[in-house]
Amino acid sequence: MDLPQNVLVGRVAVVTGATRGLGLAMARLLGRHGATVVLAARSEADVAGAVDRLRVEGIEAYGRRCDIGEWSDVEALRDEALTYGTLDIWVNNAGVPGIYGPTASTPVDDFTRVVRTNILGTFHGSRVALPVFLGQGHGDLVNVYGRGDQGSVAWQNAYGSSKRWVRQFTETLRAETKGTGVRVHGLNPGLVMTDLLGKVTSQRGYEARLPGLQVVVGLWGQTPDVAARPLLGLVTSDRAEFRDLKRRTLLTRGVRNLLAGRVRRRNRMPLDITVVEAER
Ligand SMILES: NC(=O)c1ccc[n+]([C@@H]2O[C@H](COP(=O)([O-])OP(=O)(O)OC[C@H]3O[C@@H](n4cnc5c(N)ncnc54)[C@H](OP(=O)(O)O)[C@@H]3O)[C@@H](O)[C@H]2O)c1
Repeated sequence: MDLPQNVLVGRVAVVTGATRGLGLAMARLLGRHGATVVLAARSEADVAGAVDRLRVEGIEAYGRRCDIGEWSDVEALRDEALTYGTLDIWVNNAGVPGIYGPTASTPVDDFTRVVRTNILGTFHGSRVALPVFLGQGHGDLVNVYGRGDQGSVAWQNAYGSSKRWVRQFTETLRAETKGTGVRVHGLNPGLVMTDLLGKVTSQRGYEARLPGLQVVVGLWGQTPDVAARPLLGLVTSDRAEFRDLKRRTLLTRGVRNLLAGRVRRRNRMPLDITVVEAER
């Protein structure tokens, strides 16, 4: 979509999980179109680094260390964003995968970690942004979906079911905010070549299934900058959601990536697998 470069001038946007991957690309996209962006993630050093990178590119960027699983951190993030003017866009992007393997032997702490970030974090972000948006009669809330948002995903139950929860939560918020001027969007970016896919932890005995993922990513993966693009269409329209994984899109991209040699062994996304013992 070709929108004017200044389409977001005067708007302040918060992006969680914005130090790398899709979140950084989304912050860059919003900033390049004129928004003031506020980046958040848990590593203070990474937040500072990402803010510097965007400023060098001419973007008005700020940042704050924030663990989205911590309510007080998320409140403080909203308060900081409001010091830059209004609060117009909030992207609940931060998300983590769980350890790959069966639910029956999933470490309890790991399941809790995924729920705390993907579910509780999305609730926290929505809970701080919506009162501001409702008070001013406008605002765009974007929740990031992922694999599992429309069906089961074996061996990735914590992640997949959390994304299905994000979808239902988002659809419910849309119903609750109807007619208020506030817009609630869902975005499923498809496969994006980021650490989330490239640095995987597996229960012992399941790691052998993962190299197949590299072929899938080689066929259908996108760079974060490309995957972020649909965000612009959402925050500048009433469109409820974007879903990358449409048959036609996948067919075209698959052929293009195949021709570009992205599926060949030496061109594949590097895969770093950590193996942990399953819990009985
Ligand atoms: N990659 C894909 O193929 C894909 C596909 C569909 C959907 N998605 C979704 O897209 C979103 C971004 O994924 P990605 O692939 O870009 O992942 P990524 O490269 O691993 O980046 C994750 C970002 O989230 C931050 N983060 C993690 N836990 C956090 C927490 N508790 N509080 C605040 N920040 C936190 C990380 O920084 P710190 O570690 O420093 O906190 C980092 O900035 C996720 O919601 C994911 O589910 C990804």
